[in-house]
Amino acid sequence: MEHRAGRVLIPREEIAARTVDLGRALGRDFAGRNPLLVGVLKGAVIFLADLIRAIPAPIGIDFMGVSSYGATTRSSGAVRLTADLSVSIEGRDVIIVEDIVDSGRTLGYLRRNFATRRPKSLSVCVLLDKIERREVDVKLDYVGFVIPDRFVVGYGFDFGGLYRSLPDIHVLEPPPRV
Ligand code: IMP
Ligand code: MG
Repeated sequence: MEHRAGRVLIPREEIAARTVDLGRALGRDFAGRNPLLVGVLKGAVIFLADLIRAIPAPIGIDFMGVSSYGATTRSSGAVRLTADLSVSIEGRDVIIVEDIVDSGRTLGYLRRNFATRRPKSLSVCVLLDKIERREVDVKLDYVGFVIPDRFVVGYGFDFGGLYRSLPDIHVLEPPPRV
């Protein structure tokens, strides 16, 4: 089936404005603490790039890779690490930056994995929360937008590896089969 990026769900201007809000909140909450922002590859890369420029304080960044959906849309439940951090997070104020929370399995896994490395604090900042699909309860500290149960592409979000580079967030048409 031929898929395409359909109607815009969140336009770039709204993403940008909300990202500035989140950056200010992080800058305020972590003032003087040099937090480490960890982007989850690959989806969160674009959000992270915009977010860090909205934080009015010195911060560090790193990345963590976890297995993604491929061309399907349902999490297998098993989360696989594909790339590990490049620095120690022991004693650091760590903020996990993720693109979207769906079932909650990926973030649940990351939270548990990070907690064993003894950071000073651990917070989570996500751009989108698909709250209706939650299966695993996971604490979110900063949320950009709560969205309905639609499969989105653009602004880092992909379907089968494509569409990440679109500047706006679109609904995938037709919806993926589950
Ligand atoms: P979870 O483990 O079910 O919470 O899945 C989270 C991951 O699924 C995200 O990091 C995304 O990679 C992917 N995902 C969930 N919903 C969407 C979507 O609507 N578009 C693109 N990727 C999605
Ligand atoms: Mg992801």
